[in-house]
Amino acid sequence: MPLLEVDDVVVRFGGVTAVDHASFAAEAGRITGLIGPNGAGKTTCFNVITGLQRPQHGAVRFADRRITRLPVHRRARRGMGRTFQRLEAFGSLTVRDNVRVAQDIHRGPAGLLRPAGADVDALLDRVGILAYADERADSIPTGTARLLELARCLAGDPKLLLLDEPSSGLDESETAAFGALLAELAAEGRGIVMVEHDMALVMTVCDDIHVLDFGRVIASGPPALIRTDPEVQRAYLGYADDDVTQEIDLEQVAP
Ligand SMILES: Nc1ncnc2c1ncn2[C@@H]1O[C@H](COP(=O)(O)OP(=O)(O)OP(=O)(O)O)[C@@H](O)[C@H]1O
Ligand SMILES: [Mg+2]
Repeated sequence: MPLLEVDDVVVRFGGVTAVDHASFAAEAGRITGLIGPNGAGKTTCFNVITGLQRPQHGAVRFADRRITRLPVHRRARRGMGRTFQRLEAFGSLTVRDNVRVAQDIHRGPAGLLRPAGADVDALLDRVGILAYADERADSIPTGTARLLELARCLAGDPKLLLLDEPSSGLDESETAAFGALLAELAAEGRGIVMVEHDMALVMTVCDDIHVLDFGRVIASGPPALIRTDPEVQRAYLGYADDDVTQEIDLEQVAP
């Protein structure tokens, strides 16, 4: 059984069908890419998976249980962690305190009696931002803030990580380090689902990819298959929009 299954999900906002009978799965220990042009429905899928958006149709299963009607916090307690496309850290707190709060929330009242973990600094070190531990979260660069989001997510020790555009704001060497970290997290047995526009990163780190276009899954498979899929090419190249075309020039992406 896959760790996560999205089954025939439909989400409509008035006349807009954001997700159109989408089905896809993600396995534990693997990195799954969820890609597609702007407005394809990727973030809405994440909202359905995490419980922020009730679908009009379809089901979500996580760790062998149907969770379609569970509230957000109960999904989190079962091991779902998420980062947001729009950054959500507490700006007036330090980087370290942001992670500490996330850890406290996860541990609950009983956890507050235990000493605050040195593991907070270990987590900051793991994602590569320990040097920023004492900085206010609203004063750090965007790329660092994305890594802070990841550290906050990992503070809950999730079985499944849902990452919404995690590499935007990272430079080339930070992106390479980030890719290596994702591989490590998957090797620990966690499932990772990543929405990402950086095709080089997606094609390098993902084991499986699902492509959304106008809310529909138009292709699923390993990177080598997705890269050459004619419908995927058409979906992307149909968007003659400035940097988007450049970012998704699939031919440019090394195997
Ligand atoms: N709360 C909402 N109310 C109305 N329409 C919405 C809402 N959220 C999303 N949409 C619409 O649903 C569609 C899918 O949006 P979504 O944010 O899921 O796309 P996305 O694939 O994450 O895009 P991007 O790559 O730009 O982040 C878009 O047409 C968007 O305008
Ligand atoms: Mg989005």
